[in-house]
Amino acid sequence: MSTKPRVFVTRRIPEFGLKRVLEATDAEVWDEPLPPSRDVLLKKIAGCEGVLSLLTERVDAEFFDAAGPQLKVVSNYAVGFNNVDVPEATRRKVRIGNTPGVLTEATADLAFALLISAARRIVETVKYVQEKHWKTWEPLGHIGQDLCGKTIGIVGMGRIGYAMARKCHFGWDMRVLYHDTRQVEPADRDLQAQRVDIDTLLAESDFVSVHADLNPSTKGLFNRDAFRKMKRTAVFINTARGPHVIQKDLYDALKAGEIFAAGLDVTDPEPIAVDDPLLTLPNCVIVPHIASATVSSRNGMAEIAADNLLLGLKREPLRAWVNPESGN
Ligand code: GLV
Ligand code: GLV
Repeated sequence: MSTKPRVFVTRRIPEFGLKRVLEATDAEVWDEPLPPSRDVLLKKIAGCEGVLSLLTERVDAEFFDAAGPQLKVVSNYAVGFNNVDVPEATRRKVRIGNTPGVLTEATADLAFALLISAARRIVETVKYVQEKHWKTWEPLGHIGQDLCGKTIGIVGMGRIGYAMARKCHFGWDMRVLYHDTRQVEPADRDLQAQRVDIDTLLAESDFVSVHADLNPSTKGLFNRDAFRKMKRTAVFINTARGPHVIQKDLYDALKAGEIFAAGLDVTDPEPIAVDDPLLTLPNCVIVPHIASATVSSRNGMAEIAADNLLLGLKREPLRAWVNPESGN
């Protein structure tokens, strides 16, 4: 019998991290493209000392009960951890790890890609060409929004929000407004950013980009009222979490022309329902949660997730530790 700790890895992650996990532990890797069903997951984790999880796994009291009291660590392969009941993990002295830092620029790049795509109608016009509608150069056709010198409103000035603001400010000469629970000195100093209340941000920004974590104060923040406070020329970008947005309200705002366009990397639910009316709108660009999908981000995430898992199994401080209060 193996003396290595048993772990369950809920999906194949890059070899970069997986290799070390396979060497150091008695690991079972879920090798299917789709996540294990809840029942299967709960069976697979029974008796494990560690789990390497994805956002698709709900890590809650039921999960901890199914795993058993020997569970030491859950290493989440993501920077966000809204899938984890952190207080419950802490109560049970289970360490929770995440993967910050390595996906900051990639996520901000994607936010910017969505911004320019939505503002300049890229996806809609690519489709137009593919569908053979291009007949002539149209003086009045396909007109989008300018980017240079405009105002970007950042909701959540963390690492990713800052990276997006920096690109917009230095690359496109934009004025930066932000809404956050705290003052962010480097943004104020280096980007001449201004911290404002949410209503000011919505009213004054040409583009609104969400980079906040999902919590009770941000859930549903982008509702009918919020979209009505934005400019009619506004572009709304969400690369954070789907539930920040009331999707039906976003649809209504886009359909009625209350805002110009939107770009989403995240939806609620994920994947988006195939009959969600947002999918019918030409002014809504949706990609399938790909912000961290670059070679260095995914390798970096795999490396940190492996470190977190292996350190947690030894009851050592994690490299990126969500709940240090869970350990000694
Ligand atoms: C992806 O959304 C992540 O949190 O890493
Ligand atoms: C995540 O990395 C953030 O702080 O924005």
